[in-house]
Amino acid sequence: MTYSPTDADLKSPYGPLAFFLDLHPDLGDFRTDVIEGLSLPQKGLSPKYFYDEPGSKLFNRITGLEEYYPTRTERALFLEHADAITAAIGEGAAVFEYGSGSSEKIEWLVRGLKDPVAYVAMDISKDHLIESASALAERLDLPVAAICADFHAPVPPPAPHLPDARRWLGFFPGSTIGNMAPTAAARFLDNAADTLGASAKLLIGVDLEKDKAVLEAAYDDAEGVTAAFNLNLLRRMRRELDAELALEDFEHLAFYNEAEARIEMHLRARRDTAIVLGERRFNFAAGETLHTENSHKYTLERFNALIAPTPWRVEAAWTDARGWYAACLLSNS
Ligand code: TRP
Repeated sequence: MTYSPTDADLKSPYGPLAFFLDLHPDLGDFRTDVIEGLSLPQKGLSPKYFYDEPGSKLFNRITGLEEYYPTRTERALFLEHADAITAAIGEGAAVFEYGSGSSEKIEWLVRGLKDPVAYVAMDISKDHLIESASALAERLDLPVAAICADFHAPVPPPAPHLPDARRWLGFFPGSTIGNMAPTAAARFLDNAADTLGASAKLLIGVDLEKDKAVLEAAYDDAEGVTAAFNLNLLRRMRRELDAELALEDFEHLAFYNEAEARIEMHLRARRDTAIVLGERRFNFAAGETLHTENSHKYTLERFNALIAPTPWRVEAAWTDARGWYAACLLSNS
């Protein structure tokens, strides 16, 4: 993959940012995707529509919930093993974060690395990206850059913009890889190898298989925050598409599908009902669902099998005492 940025791509001035690259990710069209998804035999919708403003706020609340162990467990793992992780990464690395969001999970890493060359934040949400990366640039004594792109598609190598970067370290926390189907996850890893180039490493968070009750509680908390997050999709259809639907006709459903080793989230019709979009009417029989997200859980063995066809190998893995979560350092050389 080659990419020659033009002046128009390299927008400046972006204040404290070393560069800002807008790859104009395809944001999709909510109406088109809702109509397409509601027309399927198993109704479904892309989880990317969760993250409007109310949805992003609810998601932030999820990460702090008692039942939602992944965020807390991952943070503790990274901090506990920070010295070993940064030593294994080595000196002179340039860091590339996939889905950087608020750039809140990165400081321990760039501060712990020996002579890091740069930090590049990549996210699909442009305004939030520029704001967060700029704020981080003010706090760090390190070149910080930003790329607006979608990590589900190939991302061109950032190396031409940072000629001093000798080796790239990808950072993909949050067990976000679990939200991809295994085939898509393998494609993501192939793309990441192309983006990051030779002798790259990838530090990735992987949520592990565990007791079903623990998993199901993490996606169906007692306070109902995850339910509200899921149901926000219906509210969003009403807000943005003038959809006619009765919110109380739907309920949040989260269960562990053992055969697929994944948590599935659905919105389930409590009774016969419908979602009406202008001329189109989509009937739901009582019990019928709209599938909204998957979160795949791995054993280290199955994670190794997932990455086997990609250029990556597990160089080191750190897990917590309960074996609930893994921080894996992958290497492609
Ligand atoms: N990737 C994390 C997970 O699957 C975070 C996440 C994404 C999430 N979508 C979610 C958490 C929906 C709860 C509900 O756990």
